[in-house]
Amino acid sequence: MSEMTRAPEKRKTIFSGIQPSGTLTLGNYIGALRNFARLQDDYDCIFCVVDEHAITVRQNPADLRRRCLELAAIYIASGIDPEKNLIYCQSHVSAHAELAWILNCFTYMGELSRMTQFKAKSAAHADNINAGLFTYPVLMAADILLYQTDLVPVGVDQKQHLELCRDIAIRFNGVYGDVFTVPEGYIPKVGAKIMSLQDPTRKMSKSDPEETFISLLDGPDTIRRKLKRAVTDSDASIRFDPENKPGVSNLLSIMSALGAGEISALETEFEGLGYGELKSRAADCVIAALEPLQAEFRRLIADKAYLQGVINASAEKAGYLANKTLRKVQKKVGFAAR
Ligand code: TYM
Repeated sequence: MSEMTRAPEKRKTIFSGIQPSGTLTLGNYIGALRNFARLQDDYDCIFCVVDEHAITVRQNPADLRRRCLELAAIYIASGIDPEKNLIYCQSHVSAHAELAWILNCFTYMGELSRMTQFKAKSAAHADNINAGLFTYPVLMAADILLYQTDLVPVGVDQKQHLELCRDIAIRFNGVYGDVFTVPEGYIPKVGAKIMSLQDPTRKMSKSDPEETFISLLDGPDTIRRKLKRAVTDSDASIRFDPENKPGVSNLLSIMSALGAGEISALETEFEGLGYGELKSRAADCVIAALEPLQAEFRRLIADKAYLQGVINASAEKAGYLANKTLRKVQKKVGFAAR
């Protein structure tokens, strides 16, 4: 076929979501957010503020409302173009909850009981092990499958949820024909799991104490202080060895992910130097990466009307796309015609 007659290829779809449940961390940024803007030129992208997921843990309503708009601003400040991509709140598109209900009926209790995040969260919130916490991965599957998503950029902690999503899609398609696109994960090679600064054998998490993570909105002095106090080891050599040197390896991963070069090149560069130097250079990298994002965030958050306009317009377009899939699913399972 000549160039002139070849049908334009349909661009593939990306979907990802972040919970507005606290300050975003450097882990969220490196594992997920910074990849979103990089992928936007080659895909149709849909980025969601997953507020329905957030209420599986108790939230203060005023804080949650504020954080939803802040997360929309952070998406834009990270470089995602709101003119070309969709940035919206999950609760504004009711198809998410509706598809989740249907998919609940195609997911087994055994599968959900095996989810490590459920086990961890129910241990952390033993007074509130609600059914939403249990069926959380089904809502996530609905988010993804509603948009016939091809690729889901996430950190490695979401891999198990993504695999369940694929299993649900394959199961549903097996019964009703090809209804859903079966999505692939996009997990970065470096930085898919940024570790806590105080216990580098644990994931950096926004629900842990302040000194364990770097917030996307931390100022330069705070970033320097937190990195200076980051737990390392007593071996005094700068090598990438996550098993035996998790703290040092974490700092090398952070730097490499933020563009300081390959990890092997960093190891050579730091030969004979001490941890003080490593921490100070890591702080330089983090500050340089976050400063432009923070400046843009401050500018955007001052214009609430603009942000509201973006999430409203995106929700309308997302709703249209989502309803196309939802109607098809409803018909397949046998709900009456409308
Ligand atoms: P959430 O809000 O916990 O995290 C958002 C994204 O950040 C990644 N991430 C990390 N990456 C590297 N190192 C870390 N320490 C780190 N901590 C978090 C997460 O992997 C995630 O990509 N269930 C999801 C939200 C969600 C979703 C979806 C994602 C709901 N629906 C559909 C993709 C597609 C979550 O709780 O992410």
